[in-house]
Amino acid sequence: MKSDWTELLQFDKKHIWHPYTSVENALPVYPVEKAEGVYLELGDGTKLVDGMSSWWTAIHGYNHPTINAALIDQISKVSHVMFGGITHRPAIQLAQLLIELTPPSLEKVFFSDSGSVAVEVAIKMALQYWQSKGKNKKNRLMTTRSGYHGDTFKAMSVCDPVNGMHHLFSEVLSKTIFADKPTCKWNEEWDTEAILSLQKLFEEQHENLAAFIIEPIVQGAGGMNFYHPQYLTEIRTLCDKYEVLLIADEIATGFGRTGKLFACEHSAISPDIICVGKALTGGYLSLAATLTTKEVSSTISKGESGVLMHGPTFMGNPLACSAGVASLNLLLQSNWKEKVSWIEKKLTEGLAAIQEHQKVKELRICGAIAVIETYENIDVAAAQIEFKTLGVWIRPFRNLIYIMPPFIIEKDELELLILAMKKIITKSIYIQ
Ligand SMILES: Cc1ncc(COP(=O)(O)O)c(C=O)c1O
Repeated sequence: MKSDWTELLQFDKKHIWHPYTSVENALPVYPVEKAEGVYLELGDGTKLVDGMSSWWTAIHGYNHPTINAALIDQISKVSHVMFGGITHRPAIQLAQLLIELTPPSLEKVFFSDSGSVAVEVAIKMALQYWQSKGKNKKNRLMTTRSGYHGDTFKAMSVCDPVNGMHHLFSEVLSKTIFADKPTCKWNEEWDTEAILSLQKLFEEQHENLAAFIIEPIVQGAGGMNFYHPQYLTEIRTLCDKYEVLLIADEIATGFGRTGKLFACEHSAISPDIICVGKALTGGYLSLAATLTTKEVSSTISKGESGVLMHGPTFMGNPLACSAGVASLNLLLQSNWKEKVSWIEKKLTEGLAAIQEHQKVKELRICGAIAVIETYENIDVAAAQIEFKTLGVWIRPFRNLIYIMPPFIIEKDELELLILAMKKIITKSIYIQ
């Protein structure tokens, strides 16, 4: 470790709160000095293959010359300017791309600064939509268990009530209606019974429902559950039948991760509102967007307030939007579809045998995502020491060891990740 890191890490431990950690009993953190391609370089010079894409974001890897150049060019023009009363090329270009690429009929774009805020905006759109139609009773939200939509309060209220630790905030969180976790798995035959309980909830609750929110196909941080595309098709039908808006949270799944540009495409449905974020800027800067239809946007605009009541300070930040334009163009010019399908095939072949291991409850693979669910919870600190020795960066949570590598990953690097996942389950990493 370079000498200055010792002091810096002491300061970090003493003063900085990392995600979901205690300051009294903080988990160790690893200093990253730089990152290049699929490699993270630590303070002690160790290079690790990154299996996490910095939480679904860095699809093109790190330090990409094209995104770097786009940012440098934009910095020399304007790094930030307020979006109230002003517009700029990067926001317009990014909105054009998003409208073109997202499912049909989504044609109004609201930029925000993080995924959680994009979800807040989506919910606000849904609530304002029904208010504008004079249907004030339609003000509740429905979702399935095992979902994750962010850490702000309204977003938290639609996260899994157990994993999302609702009990800590039970006085403040709105009372969401929770359907069961989707049971019919992604790669199984469709089971018509899998939708029955949800049908019943729609029948009972639709008069109060503003929107149904769900992560299409892959539920992320709420449990890494992959469900059948027909389930989403059925939800679209129920939303249409009972006049409920469908919000698709594609913040984790968007931009190719599941093998389609957007996971909604597995079910060939178009939501009324979609949220995108994470990989939107190729992992360079925090940016998200909420897109909706002419019907939703016009209804809000003709309603009592006449405006959508939201406007973050850094809305449409030009630097972030220029990274977004560069990242999306890179994706479109690449052979991402073949690459993701190659990653899926390698993961499937490389990890298949792991299902037989006594510690493993289930192996799940979809596009460039692999998840090993173990019976016991993982000791994250112990697992990370092992992973570092194995030359990879993988960060499990609860009983889930999962990877979603950058799409640019090559054979040897992917094989190293697969080997590390196979080896880790045999180590002493379980919480007793
Ligand atoms: C599906 C989904 N929605 C929303 C969010 C929240 O995004 P952010 O962390 O940028 O606020 C996340 C983040 O993990 C997510 O996976």
